[in-house]
Amino acid sequence: MKNSNYSKVYRIMHWLIAVSFMLLLITIFLRLTWMNKYNVAAIIQDFLKDTDLVLTQEQLIVLAKKIRQPMWDWHIYIGYFLVGLFSLRFMLPLFGEMKIQNPLAKNITAKARFQNWTYIIFYFCVLVSLLTGLIIELGPKEFKKPMEEVHELGIYYLIGYICIHLAGVLFAEFTDQKGIISRMVSGKLNKE
Ligand code: HEM
Repeated sequence: MKNSNYSKVYRIMHWLIAVSFMLLLITIFLRLTWMNKYNVAAIIQDFLKDTDLVLTQEQLIVLAKKIRQPMWDWHIYIGYFLVGLFSLRFMLPLFGEMKIQNPLAKNITAKARFQNWTYIIFYFCVLVSLLTGLIIELGPKEFKKPMEEVHELGIYYLIGYICIHLAGVLFAEFTDQKGIISRMVSGKLNKE
């Protein structure tokens, strides 16, 4: 098995993308759990029951969304950052860096073929998420709802990909590509 060293550009891009996805995942997690608009609305309603104030369900939801907004703004900032990172990532092969491996190439192992397909499918899903996210934010109002419906599905491939990726890296580390994790950090194969 080829044990190539990863270039500095490759490693920087890899970790920038990985950390951005982790932060993006935290914003999604918060939105689906603690900062879910219905949860927050229920907390406000519970608080108001000991006061003279009464708010309708719609008003509670509007207030809950306003409380959530500063956290959710980070989803949008990270989203724009990822648009920049992926634009760069897809231009880098033109300069001989981060080449996209062809899953249809001859003379590659079944494992390499599976790996290459995983990346292609992941990149396609990321493109859909980035484009639908941009259209929700910047596009015409009538596209907002259908785009949101597609965009929200992003959580499934993101979790799926992260699981496959981590399992693959750990498997490689403990079988035929010992040192792969340290090479992605330092660029070099650690000498024992
Ligand atoms: C690969 C990148 C991205 C992924 C995986 C992703 C994932 C998600 C997910 C799973 C949700 C739904 C959260 C929920 O169910 O409540 C969401 C919502 C949203 N995302 Fe992203 N996102 C990405 C990029 C972006 C970008 C680039 C933007 C815009 C610049 C953006 C803007 C939004 C907005 C405005 C919502 C709220 C939609 C709504 O109100 O239903 N996202 N995103």
